[in-house]
Amino acid sequence: MVEVHRLRHGSNAGQPITRRDGLLKVTGMARYAADNHPPGMLHAVIAAARIARGRVAALDVAAARAHPGVVQVMTPGNRPALALHPDDKSVPFSFRMDLLQDDRVRYAGQPIAVVIAETLEAATEGAALLAPRYEAEAVEVTLDAPGAFVPEAVGVGAPPEEHHGDMAAGLAAATRRIEATYETPMQFHNAMEPHGVVAAWDGDALSLDMPTQGFALTQMRLAAMFGIPAEGIHIRSPFLGGGFGSKLLTGPQVLGILAARLVGQPVKLVLTRAQMYGPVTHRAPTRQTLRLGAAADGALTALHHHVRTATSRFDDFIEPAAGASHTLYAAPAIATSYEALRLDTGTPGFMRAPGEASGSLALEVAMDEMAQACGMDPLDFRLRNYAEVEPISGKPFSSKALRDCYAEGAARFGWAGRPLAPRSMRDAEGRLVGWGIGTATFPAMMFQAEARAEIRRDGTGLVETGAHDMGQGAWTAFAQIAAESLGLDIGQVEFRSGRSDLPSAGIAGGSAHTATAGSAIQAAGEQAIARLAELALADPRSPLFGADNIGVVARGGRLVRWDDESRRDSFADILDRAGLESVEGRGNASADAEAASRYAMHSHGAVFAEVTVDPDLGQLRVTRLVGAFAAGRIINPRLVKSQYYGGMIWGVSFALHERAALDHRSGRVMNADLGEYHVPVNADIPSIEAILVEEEDPHVNALGVKGVGEIGITGTAGAVANAIWHATGVRVRRFPVAIEALM
Ligand code: MOS
Repeated sequence: MVEVHRLRHGSNAGQPITRRDGLLKVTGMARYAADNHPPGMLHAVIAAARIARGRVAALDVAAARAHPGVVQVMTPGNRPALALHPDDKSVPFSFRMDLLQDDRVRYAGQPIAVVIAETLEAATEGAALLAPRYEAEAVEVTLDAPGAFVPEAVGVGAPPEEHHGDMAAGLAAATRRIEATYETPMQFHNAMEPHGVVAAWDGDALSLDMPTQGFALTQMRLAAMFGIPAEGIHIRSPFLGGGFGSKLLTGPQVLGILAARLVGQPVKLVLTRAQMYGPVTHRAPTRQTLRLGAAADGALTALHHHVRTATSRFDDFIEPAAGASHTLYAAPAIATSYEALRLDTGTPGFMRAPGEASGSLALEVAMDEMAQACGMDPLDFRLRNYAEVEPISGKPFSSKALRDCYAEGAARFGWAGRPLAPRSMRDAEGRLVGWGIGTATFPAMMFQAEARAEIRRDGTGLVETGAHDMGQGAWTAFAQIAAESLGLDIGQVEFRSGRSDLPSAGIAGGSAHTATAGSAIQAAGEQAIARLAELALADPRSPLFGADNIGVVARGGRLVRWDDESRRDSFADILDRAGLESVEGRGNASADAEAASRYAMHSHGAVFAEVTVDPDLGQLRVTRLVGAFAAGRIINPRLVKSQYYGGMIWGVSFALHERAALDHRSGRVMNADLGEYHVPVNADIPSIEAILVEEEDPHVNALGVKGVGEIGITGTAGAVANAIWHATGVRVRRFPVAIEALM
């Protein structure tokens, strides 16, 4: 076996190169799912329920069908049969779906019919003509509803209660105790690209243009639902206009596939913006109670994090909001617990930083309240309670440069000299100024991925894996990893992806796509290089002949002898002499169970926020944000900073803007549009800085990469909330912060 040395910090990975697909995006040439128009394609439009509970008593199908251009109306009466009931969860990682299985309505916005027409306009008008008559029942849509229960599991299977140490003793030992309850709202997915599909059947083969965060997952579920072979389902998803967890699971797009089946023609179905507030999952509301005890020196003695949240009446997803309390702060006693309600809403699900986004907000504000109670600087208080090992498990961290995050972020922000007391700072216009800090954390996960690499006779490389670019720049980061592993310049590497007929890259979720698919790409590239090295070292005509015990390294399209730069052989020459068109390598990656059993793996960060508040009007602005994050090896600093900016902006949104307002009687979302469901606009976002803190992680995976996609939200919302307190002396515990709370 030839030893092939790994060359890190080559010319590719680690470089801040711009997106390879940037030009396509900015010129409108990138083809998103809904940009496809196969010949004979019809348009489908969903009619959605206007009640949240009850049944559809009547639909005027005749009126819709009579409308010019309308081809068919799909209702529970004529919807093609499915091999698997939409409520069947036997396929792993399934959610219950509403696919016109009956006349029941389980939440407002649930699909109740689909109108298929020659034009989008005709289908839209046809859907309006259905004029449904309902038998409505009373609904419960708030966390005040009775009937809370302890869920069987939270998130994807975590236990609903976890303990470490003696809570009663911890609280008894405290000289200061706080107990406070924090409320976070229901939030809905508003990716730029709404969910959609262009579906075409050919017998039992199915061709889909559909944004997805997971090809294999989608194929598996659709195969079971339609009773067809997974290999016959071809999905193209070259670009996604955002996913954030909502495109992991195929929901209402299945109606488009059913519609195509019904009419025997290709069908396009795209959700309207308003329809995004129904069947595509949402972030669950929470009411979180934190009980903290601390000794006179500021050391935590107890930390109890209780979460009250909601799921739907018909499914079981429970937002795992207490996770951050397992890992962030050392305390001799830690307990987390959950209770949930069944509400007449759609089922909640994954939304960027699921769990930690809501949970770390509550935890970070509670930590700030305790720092205040202890008369300590909030950063000093966090350092006083720094977890050297993961508190709940006792495991060491695979890496944790959080101290550096605190130090580098604080220095950049100018935290030193922050007055302890609130209402101590003003700007030149007399506005109150406040500074707050929040700690960021998100688990570093690994799923499963495969990749294939090829070195071709012309010396170029090819790497393939069915990965997903939601806009985060995956095509670029993966090509960089591919180029590094092949010892080629990125311009010499063709990267094929975004299709289901390539080796499975698993899912783009849990901030684990680069780590997982990237590790598979690296392994595939290294195997191709190892094959090439075997050819060269066994070939007496090669300058590398006989270098077996010394080893080689791939660089600049050549194999180079490890101990002697002058002895080298180009990929093209090696293949040429061997008479081969190419060599191939295959690689895969998955979680290392052994490493995971020994180490706690998380990304970390520290976010510092400045706000100003007009003391007369309550007008609130975030004026500065500095986030310092450590997430292992950074493949592309430019793209990673973008991820952090996006996360931090969502953190501001979480603290100040986003909230779905539900009508308590009808159960409908009253602000189901981007006019009234507020997200930050450019003017809401101040100067943002993201600092990439160096961190090496030898355990997390072969690449040393942790996740960067979700962590930015987690520190930011708390930092903003804490800055508001520092500016005003008002401790807001209900989010988003309303102006009247500051008056
Ligand atoms: Mo993420 S919420 O796992 O896409």
